[in-house]
Amino acid sequence: MTTDSLTTQLADIPRTVLGHLPTPLEKLTRLSEELGGPNIWVKRDDCTGLALGGNKARKLEYLLGEAVAQGRDTVVTFGAIQSNHARQTAAACAKLGLTCHLVLSDQVHSEDARYKTGGNVLLDRLCGATLHFVAPDDRDAIRDVLSKLGASTHLYIIPGGGSNATGALGYARCALELREQTAARNITPASIVHASSSAGTQAGLLWGFDQLCGSGARAYDVLGINVYHDEPKTLTNNIAKILQDLDARFGTQSACSAAIQINHAYRGPGYGQVTGETLAAIQLTASLEGLIFDPVYSGKALAALIDQISVGAFAKDEDVILIHTGGSPALNVYQDSFDKVFG
Ligand SMILES: Cc1ncc(COP(=O)(O)O)c(C=O)c1O
Repeated sequence: MTTDSLTTQLADIPRTVLGHLPTPLEKLTRLSEELGGPNIWVKRDDCTGLALGGNKARKLEYLLGEAVAQGRDTVVTFGAIQSNHARQTAAACAKLGLTCHLVLSDQVHSEDARYKTGGNVLLDRLCGATLHFVAPDDRDAIRDVLSKLGASTHLYIIPGGGSNATGALGYARCALELREQTAARNITPASIVHASSSAGTQAGLLWGFDQLCGSGARAYDVLGINVYHDEPKTLTNNIAKILQDLDARFGTQSACSAAIQINHAYRGPGYGQVTGETLAAIQLTASLEGLIFDPVYSGKALAALIDQISVGAFAKDEDVILIHTGGSPALNVYQDSFDKVFG
């Protein structure tokens, strides 16, 4: 399968434009200087536009493109209470005139009173989604919601995080975008770092670099910072499964399962649990660059990158890219944690 024929195949797949793309690739000059190199670039997927931006806009372009092509009128998806994926799904459904149901579970047990009503939850409601709160892993409650929504022919079900082979195509396109942007700046990044959780972002990037970008791009190292799973192996397996599904769908034989890189050292005590390093990284970057990260996803990737730089993982003159996957709409529900930083 040639790169050109794959790109043509990709162009034939239903897609509905939802995001402001391409997102900018910006150099963080002051942060790079503060850390003494390498050159840090940030891919601004927090600026995808859809209801305050984030990485899910890219996946939803393909997922909801498919839903509309199949004539579905009702969408249901799943997530944690402060799910960014849920918020962007609600927004995309509003824009496309689809009914949206969000099945949300409390995976964080926050003591902050705003956690269950503020941040993303407020935005879900503003966008007109119906919210169903269930206990984590309560399959009976989920079945109940689905059965009340009725016949499957009108319903489009999106997995948590929008992560399957269809959603991952959004990040395969992002690989193409990055290839063009790095070529235009004449840089070859030593690493591309991002927060990884439901696997679609990392699988899409790996497959996109491997299959759509030509051989030179295979040198790009994609490093996922696990922010969710107790066992990093679960994330590796989930990425490998999406890669297999992409290969089966497009008749490709990507070699990138062997290239899956996960770093588990920055998740802290658990999903949605704040770490001191993350809060410090968020504060440092906001104060030097006016750029805002969140403590659950992108801020943990930022903290990982800063720590990796401090232990000498990159040469001073290398280029590294951090994909800012969004998440800052949840910042206010972590006010208590920031209060402790500011005293
Ligand atoms: C802000 C943010 N960054 C990163 C991720 C991780 O992306 P993925 O689920 O595709 O691994 C998520 C997923 O929910 C997210 O909301």
